[in-house]
Amino acid sequence: MTSQGVRPAVVLVGPMGAGKSTVGALLATRLGVALRDTDEDIAKAAGKSVQDIFVDEGEAHFREVEADAVAAALAEHDGVVSLGGGAVLADQTRILLKEHTVVYLRVGVADAVKRVGLGSGRPMLLGNVRGRIKTLLEERAPIYESMASFVVDTDNRPATEVADEIAAVF
Ligand code: S3P
Repeated sequence: MTSQGVRPAVVLVGPMGAGKSTVGALLATRLGVALRDTDEDIAKAAGKSVQDIFVDEGEAHFREVEADAVAAALAEHDGVVSLGGGAVLADQTRILLKEHTVVYLRVGVADAVKRVGLGSGRPMLLGNVRGRIKTLLEERAPIYESMASFVVDTDNRPATEVADEIAAVF
């Protein structure tokens, strides 16, 4: 396939703790395609973790790099693409997502807190994991919803069941 016309089958969005990485891997297996995770792309290109990028260069720099990584993944990958929880904050990303099948993995505060545990490796949760998750969910839920072709609830559900529900649509 040429790079023109390549497009992801599904783009997963949602907050930290929604299960994007786990569901993404299961969904990719079910659909027989590869998973691309933009946080992994960013860390690989920088030669350091997302957390270290936040510490060394700051969030604004991370968001710029993230918008470019998302644009590249959407243009190059024809499998499942999983985006970092804050990727939808970028205008460019929201515009690009209008052309894609976007699944919003919805999660409530309690389940998100359970899944991220102490929040290690997640710079946006520094200080007070529960409080930060609550604020981020309130701020971002309307954005995820406005981008979504489908919304899938993940509270109290194993990732396998969530992946099955999405795979059944394709
Ligand atoms: C972030 C979410 C993280 C990562 C970075 C910032 C956010 O990705 O991109 O730490 O702003 O919500 P996950 O949602 O995959 O944890």
